[in-house]
Amino acid sequence: MKRVITYGTFDLLHYGHINLLKRAKALGDYLIVVLSTDEFNWNMKQKKCYFSYEERKMLLEAVRYVDLVIPENNWEQKRTDVHEYHIDTFVMGDDWKGKFDFLKEEGIDVVYLPRTPEISTTQIKKDLNH
Ligand code: CTP
Repeated sequence: MKRVITYGTFDLLHYGHINLLKRAKALGDYLIVVLSTDEFNWNMKQKKCYFSYEERKMLLEAVRYVDLVIPENNWEQKRTDVHEYHIDTFVMGDDWKGKFDFLKEEGIDVVYLPRTPEISTTQIKKDLNH
């Protein structure tokens, strides 16, 4: 069984996220989403989510392409997660292109998928403020 992993915040789940998850799942048989916790978002990214971790997790678990959702608590855990969860392929949107190539040294396939144009959580928040 080929195991795929991806990371993100997935706040205000939108069709760009679904597109990413669909293509990620198509690269294997089992998709793990590592979802940033509220503490991690706030402390490391100065980002405040609209939906809480538990709410974002519930939404992702309802997506047919997602098999497991686990927390992301720090930047360093990627190197250990890929071994702990026996990962074959690491996937991110191409806004992160090149950033995780160090995982290739761990024997993992690293794939950057093209982002879906014209949609992001930041854009939704901006539009709703107008
Ligand atoms: N993603 C994508 N296409 C989009 C938006 C996001 O493929 N239009 C991907 C990202 O590249 C990432 C994953 O979805 O791999 C989760 O992205 P996240 O940062 O949580 O979502 P964004 O909508 O980009 O949120 P923000 O505007 O807060 O950065």
